[in-house]
Amino acid sequence: MEITSAIFKISCPDRKSCPKETVPEFSFIGRSNVGKSSLINFLCGNKKLAKTSSTPGKTQLINFFEINHTWNLVDLPGYGYAKVSKGKRDVFEQFISDYLLNREQLINTFVLIDCRLSPQKIDIEFINWCGEKNIPFSLIFTKIDKISSSELQKKMAEFKKELLKYWDDLPPIFTSSAVSLFGKEKVLNYIEKILKSN
Ligand code: GTP
Ligand code: MG
Repeated sequence: MEITSAIFKISCPDRKSCPKETVPEFSFIGRSNVGKSSLINFLCGNKKLAKTSSTPGKTQLINFFEINHTWNLVDLPGYGYAKVSKGKRDVFEQFISDYLLNREQLINTFVLIDCRLSPQKIDIEFINWCGEKNIPFSLIFTKIDKISSSELQKKMAEFKKELLKYWDDLPPIFTSSAVSLFGKEKVLNYIEKILKSN
């Protein structure tokens, strides 16, 4: 699939204010600074679509983008941003979990993982929570331009091993780099396949 049209629609502070229309939705989540907004821009071929920043905590709302006039792509705030106060973090987590649990048109969530890191407790806990709640998700290891391919294989194997401690099966797994422009086709083809089967 090619993205020929990507239009910013609206930023919402909670699920109740999200668009009422029922077109299929794909969301992107992961730790703050993992590269969600950059990946969305790369997939859409528009560097200015979603706001990115080298400072964590840039995306704070649920941002909707209409793709090819047929489906929505959703940029979510990152989790685990240490500088956000505990009270604010709880509210944050509540509105994200409310969106993930109750948004009926959400058909897949991409959970982004920084490929350079050993399995992080917060990512594993989030993935396990998605699994327990039956939230359909896939994984994308981001920033693969930052390490060698052998190092990448090692980190991914480590991550998969950690997940297999909890689950019998692994979710679909992708790799990407918004810098070397790698991974777009596989992710978009996967989205297309899901859209066709819906
Ligand atoms: P929040 O909205 O704060 O949760 O962050 P985010 O996950 O949306 O991350 P964002 O896309 O804003 O990127 C964070 C930083 O990582 C920026 O400085 C990006 O330029 C950088 N970055 C994102 N993707 C890549 C990548 O694939 N490779 C490299 N080298 N840097 C990347
Ligand atoms: Mg962002």
